[in-house]
Amino acid sequence: MTTAKTMRTIARGGLFMGALALVIGAGTGCTVKDQPNYLIAPQINHMMFSKAVESQVATDLFENGRTLQHPPAGTLPRGHVRTHFPVDMATAKAMGKVDKDGKADFVAVAQAQAKKAGEALTNPVEATDENVARGKVVFNTFCSPCHGESGMGDGPVATRGVGMPGYPLTAKGSGPMTYKDGHIFHIITYGRGNMGSYASQIAPTDRWKAVLWLRKLQKGGVN
Ligand code: HEC
Repeated sequence: MTTAKTMRTIARGGLFMGALALVIGAGTGCTVKDQPNYLIAPQINHMMFSKAVESQVATDLFENGRTLQHPPAGTLPRGHVRTHFPVDMATAKAMGKVDKDGKADFVAVAQAQAKKAGEALTNPVEATDENVARGKVVFNTFCSPCHGESGMGDGPVATRGVGMPGYPLTAKGSGPMTYKDGHIFHIITYGRGNMGSYASQIAPTDRWKAVLWLRKLQKGGVN
């Protein structure tokens, strides 16, 4: 190829690129509010025309007519640890803990399920300084009002005469000293007797971190 020819080719290339830039410019630059812009590649722009569906409205896409679908059985969001041990009517029935009036003994169900959780689950959160420190914050915020910062059952709710005995979590010979991590995680998640569930207040990883801190308290390494 001669130099002149090469130059002409380059010039033509330049012209072409210039023209293309103009087209793209025209496509992206001018906006008519109620019309989509010029589409350079309609096949990848179909998202512009997709019909947005509100999550709470009816749809004919699914048999049950709902837009929001239940996740398929057995699935869980990434990063979540399934506790697998529900405390509900179906479980109570399966365990034979529903009396003839239809009243379930949820305390018994929760206790049995917590024990199972203790055997099946291990704490997925590593006991790094950072995680233990976070566990302390969680424990002092959500648990210490009743169980006390030392876990000895001397929190203000217990000591200021609300009529709730302090339930020690760190006393020698007490149940919680022998409960496995998953057992305590389950108690935080579902509650126990007069203690409510903390599932809505404390995220699962934070529950595990609170357990890490409780373990430290129980070993007596912090008082
Ligand atoms: C409002 C007061 C209160 C708060 C806050 C509270 N608990 Fe409790 N907790 C109780 C009571 C009351 C019991 C005993 C319930 C029963 O057996 O009837 C209990 C029982 C327990 C038990 C079982 C004790 C045993 O002897 O079997 C554990 C473990 C426990 N709590 C851990 C926690 C942790 C961890 C937190 C914080 C996430 C927490 N609790 C927050 C009141 C509370």
